[in-house]
Amino acid sequence: MSYKRISYEVKDKTAWVGFGFNCNKSMTVLDEQSLIELREIVERLHVESSKLEGVIFHSHKDRCFLAGADINLIDSMKTESEAADGAEQGQQIFNRIEDLSIPTVAAVHGVCVGGGTELVLSCKTIIASDDDATAFGLPEVKLGLIPGFGGTYRMPKRIGLPAALDLILTGKMVKGYKAKKLGLADETYPKENLLKMAPSFFTKSKKKESLKDQLGHFAADNFLSKKIIFQKARENVLSKTKGFYQAPLKILDVMEAGMMKGRSSYLSSESQAFGELCVGEQSKNLRHIFFMVEEAKKYPGPEASGSSPKLKRGAVLGAGTMGGGIAWLMADNGMAPLMKDLNPDGLVLGLKQSSKNFAESLKRRKMTQDEFERKQRSITCQLDNEGFDKVDLLIEAVVENMDIKKKVFADTEKYVRADTLLTSNTSSLSVEEMSKALEKPERFAGLHFFNPVHRMPLVEIITHSKVSPETLKALYEWVLKVKKTPVIVKDGPGFLVNRILMPYLNEAGFLLEEGVSVKDLDDACLNFGMPMGPCRLLDEIGIDVGVKVAHILHEGLGDRAMASNFSQKMVDKKWLGKISNIGFYKYDEKGKPAGDNEELSSLLPGKSKKMSETDIQMRVFLPMINEASIILSEGIVDRASTVDLGLIFGIGFPPFRGGLLKYADGEGLDRILDALDKYASDVNEHRYKASDFLKDLVQNKKKFYEI
Ligand SMILES: NC(=O)c1ccc[n+]([C@@H]2O[C@H](COP(=O)([O-])OP(=O)(O)OC[C@H]3O[C@@H](n4cnc5c(N)ncnc54)[C@H](O)[C@@H]3O)[C@@H](O)[C@H]2O)c1
Repeated sequence: MSYKRISYEVKDKTAWVGFGFNCNKSMTVLDEQSLIELREIVERLHVESSKLEGVIFHSHKDRCFLAGADINLIDSMKTESEAADGAEQGQQIFNRIEDLSIPTVAAVHGVCVGGGTELVLSCKTIIASDDDATAFGLPEVKLGLIPGFGGTYRMPKRIGLPAALDLILTGKMVKGYKAKKLGLADETYPKENLLKMAPSFFTKSKKKESLKDQLGHFAADNFLSKKIIFQKARENVLSKTKGFYQAPLKILDVMEAGMMKGRSSYLSSESQAFGELCVGEQSKNLRHIFFMVEEAKKYPGPEASGSSPKLKRGAVLGAGTMGGGIAWLMADNGMAPLMKDLNPDGLVLGLKQSSKNFAESLKRRKMTQDEFERKQRSITCQLDNEGFDKVDLLIEAVVENMDIKKKVFADTEKYVRADTLLTSNTSSLSVEEMSKALEKPERFAGLHFFNPVHRMPLVEIITHSKVSPETLKALYEWVLKVKKTPVIVKDGPGFLVNRILMPYLNEAGFLLEEGVSVKDLDDACLNFGMPMGPCRLLDEIGIDVGVKVAHILHEGLGDRAMASNFSQKMVDKKWLGKISNIGFYKYDEKGKPAGDNEELSSLLPGKSKKMSETDIQMRVFLPMINEASIILSEGIVDRASTVDLGLIFGIGFPPFRGGLLKYADGEGLDRILDALDKYASDVNEHRYKASDFLKDLVQNKKKFYEI
């Protein structure tokens, strides 16, 4: 019998079961067909076991063993029982693998996550390649799910409860060497030797646990220790997720209640929990984000007819906060960047910034000392334009001033090649206007990174009327290559993210002037799931920077983008936020929060106003939804998912809500419109004036995700 997705071959009494067979995609997943085939193969192994010395599970792919269950398949499950049933069927197959009487060896090279890791856990032996491509993990929690194919049952048995909880609750990946250290993999080999070594494990007895490991497992294995471990894990989850995420808590419930259960009873509660979570709103929203991210891996811009330039060597102009961060990114990606500033002090600052980022990787052991030194040394600091003719991508990050930027570009263009891409990291200036300084504007675009560069995953690629599709495509692919998420945005005040952030920050000032306290305001936004309330965020950005950007947006967008005078009053007092150790809150000399700014009350009205949490949330989020609808109507971005991707990765809009516009669709656009109308008459007719685009959607009974 031959199979379409999985190869099956018996050689010298060894059965070889290979994933990624006949598959032209880089990642192999467990879809409906491969699950059917796997079931048949496992049954066949049971029948033929007396003639076999053992079975080896392996992959035909270069960098993937098995990337888990097909998320489209998970997404197609519409009811709780259908999803629970689906999980149960997977569990049964893996149980049958576990129950094989012959030796079973998983020889893992490449990505082996989710259902992949659950499959290898049902094998008696796991060996792994020591290649960088090899990674194990149970990332289901990131999709709002519990591993449903027996992962929560088998992982603790294999590596002990504390380590298993760490993997399952965070969804983190581990490489081959770490998997061996954890006891997940029995041995690691160079990938060339992996399959050669696999049969030797048919007769090898398991390594004895070291005394230290035995003691560790013994300590974690009694009822009381387990209770304490679960209690600590629950506290940890609650402090990290603030209780917003259901999946990790559900996982803990299943694992703790299952401590004394046998396999079938345990697995039945795991599959039930999978069913419940799978059809819940949170998991749907998190899967929606997964699909958006996958979609964003394909260049969505205008078709490029010519070939796009390869961007190998980089340069940064301006070695400040952003320039230093961008130079780090380039160096980390092997682009040996040139970093130019006007003065040596700037260069020192830029180098400090990049070395701080590298040091963090070193500390987290994501980099060796050698790599650290090599990468840091690959940044060339200079005050002139030497070597600019070798540069493929230049990113300008000098002071935010149109005249200076135009002058810098006109001058730089003389020193670079005709095919060098020139970009600006401006956060608020018109890219269209800036392009006028260049002789060849088609190779120019905005490339807006967020601060801090090493943490923030989003990059806005800003277009203008003369940019070529080849330039856009090359920039898009480069941003993906450096592992950031690109969004293409048409030029306009505040581009995408800062423009929608504007009402969040502006309304804060108005609410404070009305008498709402800083605490009530920030708490209401935190309780919605935002990573920071608007007052804390303004402190981070810098109150003076906020005031400057607010002016630009007011000028560009009119009265709906009006800001209160509150921030200006703070600037007058030199309360600039974290940078001056005092803003809405106080900070110590290391920038750590050090309590409230009690003197803020001197700028506040005497009266205080108690406003409900929902009211505060409506006041800040409604105008954001409205602004996003105007952005769509102006074609600044062309679809709702780009807005949502931008806000989730640009300002940390709560992922469990699926994005701002997904949230709005869920609430009902008719209700959003009614609420905007109410606030337009009760609070301010400009700031809450519903857009025609939103009214049209409501009239045509459409959602943002249906346009
Ligand atoms: N800081 C942020 O949070 C942030 C976020 C996104 C984008 N941006 C944008 O990035 C750019 C830089 O911001 P920053 O915060 O890093 O500024 P910064 O003040 O920290 O650094 C600017 C650097 O540019 C140098 N410089 C000035 N003129 C120059 C020239 N002609 N040639 C070479 N170097 C020159 C200065 O000496 C200074 O070292 C601005 O356009 C800003 O709007 C900033």
